[in-house]
Amino acid sequence: MREFVLYSRKGRTDSKFTSLRAAGRLDVVHECIVASLFLSHGIRRNVFFHALLSGPPFPPLHLCIDGSRLRNAPTDQGAWKEILRNVLSGKFHPGLNVDKTSFEALLKAKSNEAPIYVLEEGGKNILEVDIGKNPVFVLGDHIGLPRKVEVFALRYGEKVSLAKQPYLAASCINIVNYLLDRKAILS
Ligand SMILES: C[S@@+](CC[C@H](N)C(=O)[O-])C[C@H]1O[C@@H](n2cnc3c(N)ncnc32)[C@H](O)[C@@H]1O
Repeated sequence: MREFVLYSRKGRTDSKFTSLRAAGRLDVVHECIVASLFLSHGIRRNVFFHALLSGPPFPPLHLCIDGSRLRNAPTDQGAWKEILRNVLSGKFHPGLNVDKTSFEALLKAKSNEAPIYVLEEGGKNILEVDIGKNPVFVLGDHIGLPRKVEVFALRYGEKVSLAKQPYLAASCINIVNYLLDRKAILS
């Protein structure tokens, strides 16, 4: 099992939007969903993806996607605009759940059962970190983690870096998935 937790500063918390980009950059959330959960012609059944949506009008909202139960989900942005609109208006989609769990409560709960890694350029080189079982990776959106959120996350997790360059959030997820896939092959 592996989990990704994306903190979305402005991600909209209702279904009243015309484009994902205009909805507080839910397009970034979509990119991270695809990077977390999709293989070519397949879904990563061993992944949970979480987005903490902190935009108007009802923050915070916790969107959770369980790869083992996800169905009827192509990868394109148009399809996810409809899927996100549906779940944000209270409709059901297999594998998706929306609730009022806060970032702080989620991390606290996860820290009891899994190692937490906070992705940040300035952290420890991930290649030198012995990633534990069922890891949880926390990352920021296009702007990055708010300072307060990062400080809170570091009470429970370790800061790890993929490189000195700032990557797109979805690229970070792709890299982590690749490294964990390689590790699984080699071990
Ligand atoms: C688009 S980046 C945001 C960059 C923003 N300039 C910042 O200072 O955070 C989104 C998120 O990806 C993660 N990230 C980006 N580059 C990284 C790297 N080289 N190593 C680890 N995490 C990275 C961080 O969690 C960051 O908050």
